[in-house]
Amino acid sequence: MDAAMLYALRDPAGVPSHPLVFLVLGVLTWALHIAAVQVMLGASVLTLFGALKIDRYWRRLAGAMLATAKVAVSVAIVLGVAPLLFVQVIYDPFWYTANVLSARWVIAFIVILIAGYIALYAFYYRNQNLAAQPTRGAWHLLISLALMLVVGWIMHVLSYQMLLPEQWMSWYAPNGRIDPSGQSLHGYSVARFAFFILLSVAVIAAWLFAYRRYLMARPDSDPGYLAWLLPLAQRLMLAGGLLAVASGAVWLATLPEKMAWFASSGWVWAGAAALLLASTLPRLLGQRLDRGLWGYLPFGVGAVALIVVGAAREALRFFTLFGAHGYNALDYKLNLDWYSTVLFFVTFAVLGGVVLSYLLTVAWKSGQSQGVYTPSPAITRLGNLSIGLLVLWIVQYFAIGFYVWAR
Ligand code: HEM
Repeated sequence: MDAAMLYALRDPAGVPSHPLVFLVLGVLTWALHIAAVQVMLGASVLTLFGALKIDRYWRRLAGAMLATAKVAVSVAIVLGVAPLLFVQVIYDPFWYTANVLSARWVIAFIVILIAGYIALYAFYYRNQNLAAQPTRGAWHLLISLALMLVVGWIMHVLSYQMLLPEQWMSWYAPNGRIDPSGQSLHGYSVARFAFFILLSVAVIAAWLFAYRRYLMARPDSDPGYLAWLLPLAQRLMLAGGLLAVASGAVWLATLPEKMAWFASSGWVWAGAAALLLASTLPRLLGQRLDRGLWGYLPFGVGAVALIVVGAAREALRFFTLFGAHGYNALDYKLNLDWYSTVLFFVTFAVLGGVVLSYLLTVAWKSGQSQGVYTPSPAITRLGNLSIGLLVLWIVQYFAIGFYVWAR
C-alpha cells in the first residue's frame, strides 16, 4: 500500500483543528480509558475471588470491588468514545479500513459489550450484600469478565490491523478471491494484548492503596480490615510489576520487523521507568501511606505512568506509519473551525470541571459520612451551577444550529 493511496483515503474536508490537538487528546483520553478498563477488570477479578471465599474480609472486599467494577465499566465505556473520535479523525484511512475488514466484529462489539454489562448487573442484582450473604450465581460474573475481554480483544485487533497496511489486500482478497464478509479478525499480537490486560494487576493494587486510605478517614473504619488490605495491595503491586515486565518483554521481542526500532527506543525506556516508579512507590512511601494524601499517590503516579505508556504506544503507531508507509498524521489538511474548537475546550474545562467537581465531591463526602449525608450550602450551589451550565450548553447548541440552518 503506497503513501498516495493512503492519502487518497483521507477525508477531503480536512480536520477542524490542528492535527496535533487530536493526537495529544487521543493519547490522554486513551490513557484514561485504559486506566478505567484496568480498574474494572482488576475489581471484577477481586470480586470473583472474594465471592468464592468465606473469609469475612475477602467478602467485604468483594462487595466493595463489585461497586467499583460497576462504576468503572461505565467510565471505561464513556472514556472509550473519546479516543475513538480522535483516532478516526487523524488516522481515518487506517482505522476505517481495519474496521471494514472485520466489520461483523465491529458490530458485534456493541452486542457483546451490552451482554457483558448485563451479566455484571445480573450478578449485582443477585448479590447486593456480598459481605453478609452467601454468593449466588458467580458464573454471571465470570461470563461478564470473559465478554469484557472479548470486547477488549476486538479493540486490540482493530488497533493492530491499522498498523499493517501491507497485509490488507491479502486479508480482503485471500488468493485473489474477494471476501467482503468482514467475518474474520486478521491481525493481532497476543503479547501486546496481554501487556495491556495484565497491567490491571498493578493498577488495581494502586487502587487498593487509595481505597484503604479513603476508608481510614471514615469514622467507623475497621483497623483489622485496613491491616489485612495492606499486604494484599503490596503483593498485588509486586505481582503486577513482574507480569507487566514479562508480558512487555515478550511483546517487544516479538515485534514485526518494521516495528522493531521501538524495542530499543527512548519511548520504551520512559514507559518502563514510569511503571517501575509506580510499582515501587508504595514500598518507598512505607508508613507515610497512612498519612495525609500520600495513600492516594500510588494511584496518581500510576495514572501518569499510563499516560507515558499511552504516549509510547502512540509513538509506535505514528513513527511506524510515517517511517514504513510515508503517512504523516500531522500533515492533515487544516480547515480551522473556531466555533467547534472553542466549544470543545470550554465544554471540557468549564462544564466538565464544574459538573465533575460536584459529582465527585458529593460521592466523596457521602462515602465518608455516617447515616444520611446532607450537602453543605456551598456544595448545593455547585450542584445548581452544574444544572444551570448544562441548560445553557443545550440552549446555545440548538440556538447555533437553528441560526446556521436559517441563514
Ligand atoms: C469494556 C471493555 C473494554 C476493554 C477490556 C478494552 C480494552 C482495550 C485495550 C486493551 C485496548 C488497547 C488495544 C491495543 O492497543 O492493542 C483498547 C483500545 C481502545 N479502546 Fe477499549 N476496551 C473496552 C471497551 C471499549 C469501548 C466501549 C470503547 C468505545 C466506545 C473502546 C474504545 C477503544 C479505542 C478507540 C481504542 C483504541 C484507541 C487508539 O488506538 O487510539 N474500548 N481497549
